Amino acid sequence: MVKKAFIIAIDGPAGAGKSTIARMLAGKLGYVYIDSGAMYRSITWAAMRAGFSLQDDKKLVALAKETRLCFKKHDHQMKLFMNGKPVTKAIRTPKVTANICYIADNLQIRRLMVKLQQKIGQAGGIVMEGRDIGTKVFPGADFKFYLDASAQERARRRYREFKARGVKVKIQDILQDIRIRDHKDKTRMVSPLKKAKGSIVIDSSKLTPEQVVSIMMGRIAGSV
Ligand code: C5P
Repeated sequence: MVKKAFIIAIDGPAGAGKSTIARMLAGKLGYVYIDSGAMYRSITWAAMRAGFSLQDDKKLVALAKETRLCFKKHDHQMKLFMNGKPVTKAIRTPKVTANICYIADNLQIRRLMVKLQQKIGQAGGIVMEGRDIGTKVFPGADFKFYLDASAQERARRRYREFKARGVKVKIQDILQDIRIRDHKDKTRMVSPLKKAKGSIVIDSSKLTPEQVVSIMMGRIAGSV
C-alpha cells in the first residue's frame, strides 16, 4: 500500500499511452490525474476562436494571461475548466493539434502554464502527464517516468481509436502526423521533450496498459 502523497511525472511523445496510463495509475493510487496538454490545447482553441493571427505573440500572451484555467472534480474525474466552463472535445480536433506549436513554443505562455501546474501539484498525491513535467514543472518529482513506443505502434493505436469512433483515416497519414509532432516537440527552443534526469524509461510498444501500470506500481511500491 502506497500512502505518501508523491508527485509522479509522466512524459513522452504523442500516442505513447500517457493519458490512459496516467489515469489508471492515479486511480490505483487514489491520486489526482492532470492532463497538462489540455491546458495548451485550451489556449490554442481559444486563440483560434478569437480569430487573430496565431503568429501574433503579443495577442497570444494577452489571451493566455486573461484566460482562467482550473481543474475541478467533475463526474469523478479532474476536468479542466476555462473561464468557468468545462472544456469540450473541441480542444482535441486535428486543427487544434496542428496549431498548438504557436502556444507550446511561446516562452511567456509556457511560464504561465508551468506556474499553474506547479501550484496544482505542489501538495503531491498527483500524477501529471505531458512533455516537460519531469524536466521543467517538477524536476524534483518523486517519480519521473518517460513513456515511449515506436512511431509505428503509436500510429496503429491512434488508427484503432479513430476506427472505433467511426472516423475514416489512413494509417500513413497518422504516422506522418506523429513524426511531425515528435519533431516539433523534440526540437523546440523552449522545454523540448526529452528524458528527464533520473527518469525511468518504459517502452510500451509491446506492453498492455495494465502491464505498464504494473511496472510503475512496482517501482513506486519498491521504494517505500
Ligand atoms: O498531450 P497532448 O498530445 O494533448 O499535447 C498536445 C501538445 O501540447 C503536445 O504535442 C505539445 O506540443 C504540447 N504540450 C507541451 N507541454 C506539455 C503538454 C503538452 O508542450 N506539458
